[in-house]
Amino acid sequence: MANTREQFGSRFAAIAALAGSAIGLGNIWRFPYMVGENGGAAFILIYIAASLFLSVPIFFAEFIIGRRSRANCYGAMNKFAPGSKWKLLGILCILTPTLILSYYAVVGGWSITYLAKSFTLSFPDSFGSFAASGVASTAAFAIYMAISCAIVAGGVKNGIEKFSKVSLPVLFLLIIGLAIYSVTLKGGAPGIDYMLKPDWSKVGARTFVNAIGQSFYSISLGMGIIITYASYINKKDDVIFSGVGTAGFDLFFAILAGFVIMPAVFAAGIEPGSGPGLVFDTLPFIFKSMSQASPLLATVVSVAFFLTVTIAALTSSVSLLEVPVAWLTEEKKMKRSRATALVFTVTGIIGALCSLGFGPLSNVQIFGRGIFDCFDQLCCNVLLPIGAMLCVLFVGWKLPKEDVRDEFTSGGTRSFNSGIFGAVWFILRFLAPVAITVIFLSNFI
Ligand code: PHE
Repeated sequence: MANTREQFGSRFAAIAALAGSAIGLGNIWRFPYMVGENGGAAFILIYIAASLFLSVPIFFAEFIIGRRSRANCYGAMNKFAPGSKWKLLGILCILTPTLILSYYAVVGGWSITYLAKSFTLSFPDSFGSFAASGVASTAAFAIYMAISCAIVAGGVKNGIEKFSKVSLPVLFLLIIGLAIYSVTLKGGAPGIDYMLKPDWSKVGARTFVNAIGQSFYSISLGMGIIITYASYINKKDDVIFSGVGTAGFDLFFAILAGFVIMPAVFAAGIEPGSGPGLVFDTLPFIFKSMSQASPLLATVVSVAFFLTVTIAALTSSVSLLEVPVAWLTEEKKMKRSRATALVFTVTGIIGALCSLGFGPLSNVQIFGRGIFDCFDQLCCNVLLPIGAMLCVLFVGWKLPKEDVRDEFTSGGTRSFNSGIFGAVWFILRFLAPVAITVIFLSNFI
């Protein structure tokens, strides 16, 4: 069994897949606004500290579980702690990404629709009306899911790796090109100020909570993705390189996304915002107004922008999808194509409900929220922190310290890793559990 398991072919392939998972909608529609509202460069510094001292060590914990076990999330728990309640961690790590994928892919469907509309700049009148359309938006969701499934059905090497190795450079080329265009816009300078000007007066306890929460979500912690991808990574690859590299690419992309969006928003004299409204209402409005001066330029910029959004979303969806697929192929001995089809069906049903929740099913409310919102809140505010917490507790308190050290130092071959192991061990055992508890509770205050 062990020698038939697929592996990423190179260090670049592994980092491209991990960074691809990390770079997603969160970087585009949440990070820039969050920075602007939380003190600009001051927030970015806090974000970097939160990433280095918390998120990246939690990444290490998941990485260690995955690479040491060489198994899917559930199989990993079976190997390390057979017959114990840690099984629940395995189950949770399969449930959470499946649920997230269901609604994340709804947004993916919106992205490909807006990409298609970009060619003629014939966007829907408003994003709300499009989302409410029911049939059109749900069909787009199904198409988007089918693309994600086709990639994953191709396998780790021929599907995920090939796609990631192309998409990461393409994403950066697109976002750098767009950023150069945007920062040179007349009237765009205040957008850069908004993003970067440090304002320590805006920094408070909330800032830290926001920074930590955003960085957890952004590098895709707590949902089995790092465990699963790390299980395909070569034993010789460096854990620190993978963690810091992933977080670094992710942050760089998020800042560039801010340089694309904020100058354009300020140049158009619009109030900055976040979320679907920013990507699917504000920006299309800007592209349409640009087209009065130059239709060709507006089309090119709009296509480039929605292509970026679509690819960023796809690389994340693929990583979500791989988690249940890996479980089905390894534990249930299903063929990859059948496993993918099964996940497509399950997420298809849940996702369709989420999508229709904006239209025909808008009267269905759970705890006063629409279906989509409900899943989002449940996954991000409840399941994800619990998953991250169980991972750090597992590595910090259950796995033997020598095993953790061995994996962290790639079998004792990395002296730098050995040098900082004590600090990482302390963070995993004490700091991270406390921080995750604080973040978890703050969601309810
Ligand atoms: N990290 C992704 C983003 O920033 C989001 C994501 C969440 C991806 C969950 C995969 C899983 O958008």
